[in-house]
Amino acid sequence: MAKAIGVDIGGTGIKAGIVDLEHGTMASERVRVPTPEGASPQDVLNAVQTVLKTLDVEGSDLPLGVAFPAIVKRGKTLSAANVSKEWIGFDAEQFFRTGLGRSIVFVNDADAAGVAEARHGAARDVAGLVLLTTLGTGIGSAFLYDGVLIPNSELGHLNFREFESVERWAATSAREREDLSWEAWAERLQAFYSHIEFLFSPDLFVVGGGVSKNADHFLPLLDLQTPIVPAIHRNNSGIIGAASLAGD
Ligand code: BGC
Repeated sequence: MAKAIGVDIGGTGIKAGIVDLEHGTMASERVRVPTPEGASPQDVLNAVQTVLKTLDVEGSDLPLGVAFPAIVKRGKTLSAANVSKEWIGFDAEQFFRTGLGRSIVFVNDADAAGVAEARHGAARDVAGLVLLTTLGTGIGSAFLYDGVLIPNSELGHLNFREFESVERWAATSAREREDLSWEAWAERLQAFYSHIEFLFSPDLFVVGGGVSKNADHFLPLLDLQTPIVPAIHRNNSGIIGAASLAGD
C-alpha cells in the first residue's frame, strides 16, 4: 500500500496521520497536539516533531506533506492571521526541511483539504468550480476547477461590514467566542455564502473544518442556489490532502 504522512497545522491544533494514498483514507490513528500559544516558527516546529514522534515516523522515508494556515508561495509563508507575525515573508518550507532533516511538501491548509475532497471526497468527479471552505479558527478556502487546484484564495479575508476579515465574524471561533446558537451562526454563514455565491457562481460548495461533523445543525438552515455539502473526510481532509500532494 502506497502511504504518505500528512501534518495539518491549524490555529488551534496540529494534527497528523499516515495516509493510504490509493484510497485517500487514514492508515493510522490521528494524533493531535494543541498549537503552541503564539505559534512561533520554532514552537510549531517542535510541536510537529512531537506529532511525528508520536506517530513513530521520525526516521521514516515516507513522503511528508505539511499544511499551514497561511498563504504559501514558493515555500514562503506570506500571511499570518492566526499564527505569529514572524511567519510573514518567512522561508517556512526550508525551515521545516532543515528542522526535520528531510524533504517535505508545504501547502496552505484549505488548499490541502480541497485536494483531498477533489481526489477522494465530496468534490470527486465534480465538473466546473468547487469552492471548499473550512470553518475553524479562521475561514480557509480552496478553488478547484475540474479538479485542478487554483491555490491561495483567501475568502476568509473578504472585508465584510465593519470587519476587515469576514472570518472574525463567521468562523467557528466567532460562534464559540460569542456563544451563538446554530441558528444565529447560520444567519452569518448565509450572508457569507450568498456573497461568495454571487461573486463566483460555483457548482458546489464543500464545507470542511472540525465543525463539518455538525453539518446537520447548520447546513439545512442555509438557502443557496448552489448545493452545499460537508467534506467527506471532515477534519482529516487537511492531513489527507497534504499527504496526497506529497505522494505526487
Ligand atoms: C488564513 C488562511 C487559512 C485559514 C484557515 C486564514 O486566516 O489566512 O490561509 O487557510 O485561515 O486556517
